[in-house]
Amino acid sequence: MRTLVIGSGGREHALVYGLSLDPSVSEVHAAPGNAGIAELATCHPLSVTSAEDTVALAKDIGAELVVIGPEVPLVAGVSDALRAAGFAVFGPSQAAAALEGSKAFAKEVMAAAGVPTARAQQLLPGDEDVDAALDNFGPTYVVKDDGLAGGKGVVVTADRDAARAHAEAVLAAGNPVLLESFLDGPEVSLFCLVDHGTVVPLLPAQDHKRAYDNDEGPNTGGMGAYTPLPWLPAGGVERIVAEIAEPVAAEMVRRGTPYQGLLYVGAAWGAEGPQVVEFNARFGDPETQAVLMLLESPLGEVLGAVARGTLAEQPPLRWRDGYAATVVVAAENYPAAPRTGDAITGEGLSEPTAVLHAGTARDDAGRLVSAGGRVLCAMGAADTLADALAQAYENADAISLDGSFTRRDIGARAVAGDITV
Ligand code: GLY
Repeated sequence: MRTLVIGSGGREHALVYGLSLDPSVSEVHAAPGNAGIAELATCHPLSVTSAEDTVALAKDIGAELVVIGPEVPLVAGVSDALRAAGFAVFGPSQAAAALEGSKAFAKEVMAAAGVPTARAQQLLPGDEDVDAALDNFGPTYVVKDDGLAGGKGVVVTADRDAARAHAEAVLAAGNPVLLESFLDGPEVSLFCLVDHGTVVPLLPAQDHKRAYDNDEGPNTGGMGAYTPLPWLPAGGVERIVAEIAEPVAAEMVRRGTPYQGLLYVGAAWGAEGPQVVEFNARFGDPETQAVLMLLESPLGEVLGAVARGTLAEQPPLRWRDGYAATVVVAAENYPAAPRTGDAITGEGLSEPTAVLHAGTARDDAGRLVSAGGRVLCAMGAADTLADALAQAYENADAISLDGSFTRRDIGARAVAGDITV
């Protein structure tokens, strides 16, 4: 099977690596890819929001499966153009990807499907009275840019002035704002393969979204993750599937816009169980890097079954025992204005089980250099979570990148038994 992966981050490196291990996959292509992906796949230049260019590339390659990594091409309708041209695509249609593209739409679907989530109020550009709306919430205030912001459009704060300032800045940029009630409880990222009404969960994971230790600093795309979750109550995954993913999948079928791809359920586990914080229409980054490390089933077959509408006929997924973890090595000044172009040296840079590449490139001299905010994902897998994390940190510490930083407390609360539900 000739496969094409769209995207250029750590998630796509994990997908490319997983596909390269599947004996049924004969060729792996990626567009645009990164320096790590280029060691495993044939990379092609591509503007990922161009449906026309993506279809042309898929035709050139003779792709038998196209896997779309990031949300931007999904929300732009690239999967629809590929399907219309006859390609098998892992990734929802534009109409279904609106579950991520518009938080207000996601709320409407959840209300129709009876799915528990935070109370919300939308503000539109031109709405003057942000203060009156804030009176209905908080503290803690949750203020979201109601569009795609790469995980960085959300401000969660007890500081009313900061909440108002973020809402006003988003409105001034011409985007709607969603104010939400704060959901208490530890967060779970549960990735579900969804093919119309069929839902198959992957292992549950936890991300660390703030830039610095102890959950301080600005929101980022994610600074590190581990899987599975030792603190999740027995039957926790089944509850998220039954109470959230399956009703949403059924509602999308009922609306005539069935979901076919990966539904990322971001849930907070509060006193009454799971409540939705957000949906994403694609694999999460960096959780995917950890989750796929434990997957034993052949990735091409699994993703291909979703793309071809035969997920219900697949055997159950097989998983390795133990835990996996990933720690992000971020560039100086991430997430505000990451510095790029710095040389990367060290060990494990060509071993996907040790390091996955996120924002990397080769410069004119062929040197490996940073090319994004999240630069590398150091990986670990072991029988215990503590050992998996120790291995990920050992791999992170074997890398040298001027000005870079990592959080030092990924998974630490889970190892200490400090997370309770
Ligand atoms: N890890 C957060 C995200 O992928 O959106």
